[in-house]
Amino acid sequence: MRRARAELVETEEIYPGTFVTWYDAPALAQHAAPGQFVMVDPGAERGSSDPLLPRAFSYYRFRYASAASSDRQFALLYSVIGRVTERMASMRPGDGVDMLGPLGKGFDVRRTASNLLLVGGGVGIAPLVALADAQAEHGGRAPSIVLCFGARSADGVYPAELLPPQVEYQVATEDGSMGRQGFVTDLFAEYLSWADQSFACGPVPMFRAMSPIVRRDGLNRSVQILMETEMACGTGLCYGCAVFTKRGVKLCCKDGPRFELLDVYPGG
Ligand SMILES: Cc1cc2nc3c(=O)[nH]c(=O)nc-3n(C[C@H](O)[C@H](O)[C@H](O)COP(=O)(O)OP(=O)(O)OC[C@H]3O[C@@H](n4cnc5c(N)ncnc54)[C@H](O)[C@@H]3O)c2cc1C
Ligand code: FES
Repeated sequence: MRRARAELVETEEIYPGTFVTWYDAPALAQHAAPGQFVMVDPGAERGSSDPLLPRAFSYYRFRYASAASSDRQFALLYSVIGRVTERMASMRPGDGVDMLGPLGKGFDVRRTASNLLLVGGGVGIAPLVALADAQAEHGGRAPSIVLCFGARSADGVYPAELLPPQVEYQVATEDGSMGRQGFVTDLFAEYLSWADQSFACGPVPMFRAMSPIVRRDGLNRSVQILMETEMACGTGLCYGCAVFTKRGVKLCCKDGPRFELLDVYPGG
């Protein structure tokens, strides 16, 4: 884990209200893995305590700074919902922001898995794209990947063209304006038995709807979820991010954010 100044390289609005920002900070990218996160602290750079607390963001993508460079840059994907995300979206190339990372336990993919099911809603797509990219890098030995994504309507759907070409993309929208009409959990129910391993990130109601589906399936399959709680420190010091699991109280930032779905949402 390192604290570093991340220099903004570029920002793009990839769909209405949702931005991708690339940062240059090799110390934060070097050993980062899909499912891990950074704490973004825009006040620290200006010596300000506003905002008082940093905010957590999942690694979304990695790339090399140039063809000749071995330094990785990283991107975050976020919707503008409050002070920190507003500030992130308004920063310009060359601006710096203080960050701490990589933090937490990321996804754990078995080498032998050949069918990976990824399930996401909203900005929960961010770590799933990081996972899909990492697996796609294995080329001919890459597992098959199905990514199921849910949104209220077409204007909240992550663009298919941004995914690695190997990924089969399935979309559900609540109003039926794109893909299947319904919820992403309907797609999850269809693909669950196909998958060797499943990974999910999204809102709590999505997780709650997934656990009875896993229960009904009867095989108690492992589904790794990334949890979001409010976090003050991100490093296990403040005890502000408790998650109640079947295995006792855990800290989301340190023991997670990866948990087993049925440990947190038994769905019984
Ligand atoms: C491990 C982890 C990874 C995350 N990864 C991402 C990511 O990749 N992209 C992304 O956009 N966000 C991500 N988040 C959520 C992000 O940290 C918060 O949304 C953050 O509060 C935004 O800061 P803000 O100052 O813009 O908004 P704030 O002013 O903090 O919040 C604005 C409003 O959103 C509500 N809110 C805050 N946090 C959450 C939350 N977790 N869930 C639901 N509502 C919330 C607040 O109560 C408030 O009403 C992640 C959170 C965690 C814990
Ligand atoms: S955020 Fe402080 S202990 Fe987890």
